[in-house]
Amino acid sequence: MSEFFDDDNYEDGFTEDSFEEGVDLGLWRQLMAYTLHYPVEVTILAVCAICTAIAEVAFPLITRAVIDAVGNNGAEVNLLQYGLLYFAFVVLLACSVGGFIWFGGKIRTHVSHDIRKNGFQNLQQLSFAYYDFRPVGWLMARMTSDCERLSNILAWGLLDLIWGSTMMLGIAIAMLYMDVSLALIVLSVLPVLAWMSINFQRRILKSARRVRKTNSRITGSFNESIMGVRTSKAFVKEAENLNTFGKLTDEMFEASVLNQVQAALYLPLVLTLGSLATGLALVFGGVEVIVGGVTTGTLIAFLTYTRHFFEPIEELAHWFAEMQMAQASAERIISLIDAESDIQDSPEVKKKMALQHRIGLAPDGHGEDIQQIEFENVRFSYAVGGEVLKGINLSISKGENIAIVGSTGSGKTSLVNLLCRFYEPTAGRILIDGIDYRARSLEWLQSNLGIVLQSSHIFGGSIADNIRYGKLDATRDEIVTAAKKAGAHGFISQIDGDYDSEVGKAGARLSAGEKQLISFARAILADPAILVMDEATSSVDTVTEQEIQRGLSELLQGRISLVIAHRLSTIRQADRILVLEHGEIIESGDHATLMAQRGRYYFLYSQQHLDEFSREQSNWSHEETISP
Ligand code: UTP
Ligand code: MG
Repeated sequence: MSEFFDDDNYEDGFTEDSFEEGVDLGLWRQLMAYTLHYPVEVTILAVCAICTAIAEVAFPLITRAVIDAVGNNGAEVNLLQYGLLYFAFVVLLACSVGGFIWFGGKIRTHVSHDIRKNGFQNLQQLSFAYYDFRPVGWLMARMTSDCERLSNILAWGLLDLIWGSTMMLGIAIAMLYMDVSLALIVLSVLPVLAWMSINFQRRILKSARRVRKTNSRITGSFNESIMGVRTSKAFVKEAENLNTFGKLTDEMFEASVLNQVQAALYLPLVLTLGSLATGLALVFGGVEVIVGGVTTGTLIAFLTYTRHFFEPIEELAHWFAEMQMAQASAERIISLIDAESDIQDSPEVKKKMALQHRIGLAPDGHGEDIQQIEFENVRFSYAVGGEVLKGINLSISKGENIAIVGSTGSGKTSLVNLLCRFYEPTAGRILIDGIDYRARSLEWLQSNLGIVLQSSHIFGGSIADNIRYGKLDATRDEIVTAAKKAGAHGFISQIDGDYDSEVGKAGARLSAGEKQLISFARAILADPAILVMDEATSSVDTVTEQEIQRGLSELLQGRISLVIAHRLSTIRQADRILVLEHGEIIESGDHATLMAQRGRYYFLYSQQHLDEFSREQSNWSHEETISP
């Protein structure tokens, strides 16, 4: 697990993240669609931003008018009209600020909701192969922090862009209108400031990107460590974990300090340049006032404008930097939303389903009477590593109970994964009733499949809810019957609260065997045409297992079933036993035939039988010694 934390390894498989400089407009246009999905809100937001800017530009002009009027005419001035005008703009400002906070927040929430929804929708339909390369922590960071910052940019960034550009344009026009030469002197600072801001922000964003990258790795490794906490403790690896984690947090510390220093330098520089502009306005404006070129009111308005003029630059440079920095987030989110499952319905199947939908026919699905499954020279390898299945030929008819045995890593789970179409064969075909299963819909296949996995997942909620997962409209009686067949009824009725008791997150309050019994009941309830069980009975005791076996033989009637079991005594009744070694079927036949062959199965069976026998013997002798 620890090599997972290595810098290089961690990036394995995520190389689709390019960290390019500059802003990729195409990408942002694609994301902007999320904002523009709310045209009314966006229009109101824009109007509010423009009104805010107009009000802010208006105040110095009113002040100027008042000062000049008072200077010229003294007591005859009607101050009330200026007062009313000022008040009107104050009301406008208050309303527009309130408006943009309200609508900005609304857009932000909507956008973040929509991005998350799309991302989640896509994650649900992606194939297992996608998850093989992406740790849960990585995906969580995409759905939480990346999503947050993008929605911030898409709402508040847009607002500031409109407000900032309107305000700067307004101030520039007002200054040029009042006095062209003085305006040009003040505006001469602008290019320097813009250049400096963009450069500085770029540096800030670079270090901030490092902070984020490290942060995402910390989340990933944190997640891994917590998930594996039992194993780590059992193998006394706490110190090692702490060490790798420590390195990551040290890196985080360094990057954060650099980022803070840069941010701390930037602001004083902007303020200095802003003050320089104010100083220039004061000196040249002062001289002009003395020679009578401009009025006192104009000078005061100029001074106010120079102070406000640079606020938007700061904001815009910040958002520009933020956009550059969030580029990677944007790419990752888009890649997640657009990621195509490598296992999906073929265009023909999609067309057929769309047609069925249009003419109001129910899609093909549950309750299909499947007669035969054939594997035709099926080969398979995962994205990394060598070939796992090497030419499997197999034909299973309705009602047949197939057992698969073989040593660890021989490809048993891979074989059933292919049947469930969690992965597809790299070569060869799997036919269901003579038709390649890729020519049918995934929904069709999966609604006819019942699966009990090696590590069965239990969701938060009650026991009944967990069983109901196999058939959402099941009645309480059906649930209880399924549980009885699975041999789960016994332990469930002993728990306080019966079927309604909560199982805790991920079934934390159940034993491994109990979890298996529940997922077994779930599969029974679904009543599938094909039943797949991977080590389904590995965590239950022998008595419970016999209970399951009893229900099972009845359940398997008339279905196609594939059972992977390590305890060979449980599969003696199987119609056919396949022995898999190194991705090939090396023996096939029923128990008696294979025993008579005296091959690999015979060896495995006698070995296990001996083990069990000697265990029983030792139990016996143990009991004898302690009994009086
Ligand atoms: P399987 O997972 O099919 O083996 O892996 P198995 O027979 O079920 O083994 P047990 O009994 O449950 O332990 C077959 C091979 O495929 C590789 C494994 O390393 C193994 O060698 N494999 C498995 C991958 O390369 N990637 C995976 O995601 C899973
Ligand atoms: Mg397995």
